[in-house]
Amino acid sequence: MLRAEQSELLTRTGPATAMGELFRRYWIPALLAEELPENDCPPVRVKLLSERLLAIRDSNGDLGLIDEFCAHRGVSLWFGRNEECGIRCAYHGWKFNVKGECLDVPSEPEESGFRKKIKLKSYPLVERGGILWTYMGPPEQQPPLPEWEFIMVPRGQSYTSKRLQENNWLQALEGGIDSAHVSFLHRGNLNSDPLFRGARGNAYNLSDSQPHFEVVEHRSGLFIAARRRAEEGHYYWRITPWVMPCFTMVPPRGDHPIHGHFWIPIDDENCWAWSFDYHPTRKLTEAELAAMRDGKGIHVKVEPGTYRPLANKDNDYLIDRAAQKAGRAYSGVEGIGMQDASLQESMGPIVDRTKENLTTTDNGIIMARIKLIKAAKALADKAVLPPGRLPEDQQVRSAAVVLAVGKVFMDERETYLTVKPGKAFVSV
Ligand code: FES
Ligand SMILES: [Fe+2]
Repeated sequence: MLRAEQSELLTRTGPATAMGELFRRYWIPALLAEELPENDCPPVRVKLLSERLLAIRDSNGDLGLIDEFCAHRGVSLWFGRNEECGIRCAYHGWKFNVKGECLDVPSEPEESGFRKKIKLKSYPLVERGGILWTYMGPPEQQPPLPEWEFIMVPRGQSYTSKRLQENNWLQALEGGIDSAHVSFLHRGNLNSDPLFRGARGNAYNLSDSQPHFEVVEHRSGLFIAARRRAEEGHYYWRITPWVMPCFTMVPPRGDHPIHGHFWIPIDDENCWAWSFDYHPTRKLTEAELAAMRDGKGIHVKVEPGTYRPLANKDNDYLIDRAAQKAGRAYSGVEGIGMQDASLQESMGPIVDRTKENLTTTDNGIIMARIKLIKAAKALADKAVLPPGRLPEDQQVRSAAVVLAVGKVFMDERETYLTVKPGKAFVSV
């Protein structure tokens, strides 16, 4: 349970909020590279951390994220003309480049110097691993570019999608670090989804629905381990890393690609669920890519031309009561991604955490909240930069491993929870 003011602190990420300031100290995914496919392509409206912005790719291929609204009288620059290295407002022709600098005010003579005094808010936008990343904080505190393993592996080994999730970022993150629900909500999918089935671990997952949780802190977040019974004298461990503020990885299954998420606030009542899949030692197969594009695994089918899921709150997520009854889908909603999203959205845009009743399986969630509150307060009160901003903080992996009773998963952390470029992950 949280006090109302703690929940308020954790869930509000607009400008000048404590958690908003925290998010503004990291590189975060803003768009898929496919959204700005060529030079001078149409600009894209992007709302992040409650700020309305416009993503532009100019005639030279330079990228930028600028205030959506014209400095003259506030018209949306989305209607503007993207041409000759800048976006020209469709109303009176003021022109801005990717850095938000004003290049032209047609009504004023150049000698007046008027245009030089005009500047729109702007943030850097950098392509890495098929994703356009932005940093929305003070320029002098900008960390090095991100080096998550899924964006550093060779081309063809990684796939990323994004979908709109219509609730606050924190309840989506909390779903990502809550391994206990897998034995229930996703049980119908473990042996049928093409990106999950066939792994030895699935049987342990399904046969023991009372996992024991162990949560261990690391320098930039947590390792959340769920322990289930395996063969006599052994335990099956699924270990989920969380790196501040919102990176999580799902423990792998067999040799299937390994996957994870970012949960990025759009505003306080919506977030982007970024979902990636990669394999550290091989290219993804055509069959795997086709399954991902088809909304299997952690990906979902979206309405064409948008990133809103086809199954959404307006159609009750296409719930199929017959499939629910027959156990093909535990909740009746199809697909792992939408099973999570439907239940998390059902909690309301911002769940009332003063009313919850947590148990030991929620320890990961409790500790993540404590770490986030501590880091946000340290930044607000003492200007202490939060952990998890540096490439070395990002060298984590999830793992699924069978260990003899008595062995502690953290003892071999270096072997299976740390990135080893070009080496397979540990998975059963
Ligand atoms: S409002 Fe954009 S040029 Fe006038
Ligand atoms: Fe889930």
